[in-house]
Formats: sequence, structure tokens, C-alpha cells
Amino acid sequence: PRTAAVIPAAGRGVRLGRGAPKALRPLGGTPMLVHAVRAVARARTVSLVVVVAPPDGAAAVRTLLDEHPLPQAAGDTDVMVVTGGGTRQESVARGLAALPGDVDTVLVHDAARPLVPVETVEAVAAAVRAGAPAVVPALPVSDTVKQIGPGTPAGEPEPVVATPERSLLRAVQTPQGFDRTVLAKAHADAPREGEGATDDAGLVERLGVPVVLVPGHEEAFKVTRPLDLVLAEAVLARRRV
Ligand code: C5P
Repeated sequence: PRTAAVIPAAGRGVRLGRGAPKALRPLGGTPMLVHAVRAVARARTVSLVVVVAPPDGAAAVRTLLDEHPLPQAAGDTDVMVVTGGGTRQESVARGLAALPGDVDTVLVHDAARPLVPVETVEAVAAAVRAGAPAVVPALPVSDTVKQIGPGTPAGEPEPVVATPERSLLRAVQTPQGFDRTVLAKAHADAPREGEGATDDAGLVERLGVPVVLVPGHEEAFKVTRPLDLVLAEAVLARRRV
């Protein structure tokens, strides 16, 4: 039995071509997706990485990965490329469908979290291997969070309906780790309608299967806004000294 990582990178924002799609945006001169693949491949327990590429971008992603071979520290980890779908949920489902039969533990990791430390990847995988069906790295939130009423037109002031107790809130990261059978069932049972799930553990929660949190890491932040690129470059520069 072995552990595989699925990296969804098929969002519209990562379409190959002009305009610097996010996953191909260089960090320290190397595309974000390559950092993400290396980050999970460095984990000793991960022996296969499945990258889910845009439907029209599989060949280009394959070329990109061939141009940036894995470092020695990744050992003999295999990298497969499959094509994704219209939602993140569908893309992850396609990655799962491509896994060989001997994979029993699956990590799902966003291409947009390129700097996750290997210790976080290992901790998630170890918790699944120790028997937890679903494991999510998470951090306390520093901002107070407000819940708003649905359906407020854009540009209007948003009515606040609740302020959840901050000490009970966590911001979740990836890689999220799962028993393969549990994650496959969660995806098989998930509704196909709507925008799809933004988080795999959320689908597992709907099955009534327990999901647990382990400590996440500040450097596993999601590169979303321009300021995140500044932070990511600074983290890389600090690692190089
Ligand atoms: O949109 P969001 O930031 O939640 O996307 C998280 C990850 O899911 C990204 O790495 C993105 O490329 C991926 N994704 C995908 N297929 C889609 C939409 C998003 O693989 N159709």
C-alpha cells in the first residue's frame, strides 16, 4: 500500500498561454506548480504525484514538469498528468480515478500552496496512516470573522448576521489527507450541481465520517493576491540563505 498526492491545477486561472496563469507564475524563477509538486514529492511517504491539468493543457504541463525534474531528495517519486474538469471537485475526482490500485492513502494539495513545508505533508500523511480517515492542516484565525446575509447585491453594504467565536474557528490549508476509500466515496456521493466543493474534507463531513485537524504551517499559505507573491518570494529568499 502506498501514499499518493493529487494536485488540482486545472482552474481557469492556470490555463496555459499568455497572461501569467497563477500556477505557472514563477516564484524564485520556478513555476508555482513545480514548487507544489516538489513540496509533496519530498515527503518520504509520497511515492506518486498526480497533477490535474487544464483539459487543453496536459501536454504543456507534462513538458513543464519534464523541464523541471524532481530533486534527488524526492527519491523515485512518479509524476503523472491527467486532465481536469470544470470545477475543483471534478478535477480532484478525475485525479482520484487515475490512481493505481495499490494506493491506500491520498493527499490532495492545491497548486496555489507552493511553499508548504515537508514536515506538514509528513504530519498529515502520518495521521492518516495512524488511522484517521480524514486529516486537515489548520491554523487559528487572526482576524475576527463576520457572517453576512445571503443575496446582498454587489456594491451594497453587507448586513452582518453573526460573529462566530474566534477561538473556535480555524483556517484550513492543504494537503488534506484521506483514506482513499473514504475520499472516493465522498466524491462519488457529492452533488454534481452548483460550483462544487472548495474543500475535500467538506465532502467527507457530509458522509458523517470524522474529520480531524492537525497544526498547519504559516508557510502553507495560499498564493492568491499580489501581496502573497511578495511574501512567497521573501520566504524563498529566506530559505536560500
Ligand atoms: O479556486 P481555488 O483557489 O479554490 O482553486 C484551488 C485549486 O483547485 C487550484 O490549484 C486550482 O487550479 C484547482 N482547480 C482545478 N479545477 C478547476 C478549478 C480549480 O483543478 N476546475
